[in-house]
Amino acid sequence: MLVSAKDMLNKAREGKYAVGQFNINNLEWTKAVLLTAQENNSPVILGVSEGAGKYMGGYKTIVGMVNGMLEDLNITVPVALHLDHGSYEGSLKVIEAGFSSVMFDGSHYKIEENIAKTTELVKIAEAKGLSLEAEVGSIGGEEDGVVGAGEIADAAECKLIADLGVTMLAAGIGNIHGKYPENWKGLDFTALAAIKEATGDVPLVLHGGTGIPEDMIKKAISLGVAKINVNTECQLSFAEGTRKYIEAGKDLQGKGFDPRKLLAPGFEAIKATVKEKMELFGSVNQA
Ligand code: 13P
Repeated sequence: MLVSAKDMLNKAREGKYAVGQFNINNLEWTKAVLLTAQENNSPVILGVSEGAGKYMGGYKTIVGMVNGMLEDLNITVPVALHLDHGSYEGSLKVIEAGFSSVMFDGSHYKIEENIAKTTELVKIAEAKGLSLEAEVGSIGGEEDGVVGAGEIADAAECKLIADLGVTMLAAGIGNIHGKYPENWKGLDFTALAAIKEATGDVPLVLHGGTGIPEDMIKKAISLGVAKINVNTECQLSFAEGTRKYIEAGKDLQGKGFDPRKLLAPGFEAIKATVKEKMELFGSVNQA
């Protein structure tokens, strides 16, 4: 059964580790993430952007697929199905479809409007026992059409949003989606410490997990980050595994064109990346 991300994130914050959110794109992705979580006895959050939701056929299709897999594959670790960077309307749609967790990204609105819309969604999520992530200070880079300039969130604004009763808070600290540019200055730990100080116990979320050096990940966790989002890195691993298979001409040998064979190296590559991240984030054996 899908669960809200609330308990797993509060436990992570207290235990000084982070739960990974891995974005999914199809059946292979979903199966790879779920099996890896189970094998490593780790809680996990499946992230779905609005673009990925559309790609997979719609939110109901995803809920059906994930719930079916939890049962068929005997997944017993805590799993949350979470909307990533949702609009207000998208948030309502996934709640209706049966997601267990929602991110409402109001970071591009003026703070008053972000507060108003987040307040509404806190009420709805609470009534249904779902977890809600809010965002202050947009994350840089582009993800599925959501473009952010990479602001550093203002600690006072973070407090205003945290005090609304959100389950978790994403705050921009120089992190960006996708690969980091050569001249990236790194995470702003002074800003993170100020945000932590202002927001108290709410678990903090670090977006743009791809390519952040290990020492920065560990420092961020020590400063209150309890959820880390990874998307691009699984895509790169999948693409690399698939490319090697094709380049080796394996699709041309025997029944190598069978999608169950063709997609297997990419599937294994996602599993390896997810396992590596779970070890780095410290969520192994925390289910
Ligand atoms: P990356 O694609 O950089 O890993 O970021 C993922 C993310 O933050 C999803 O919201």
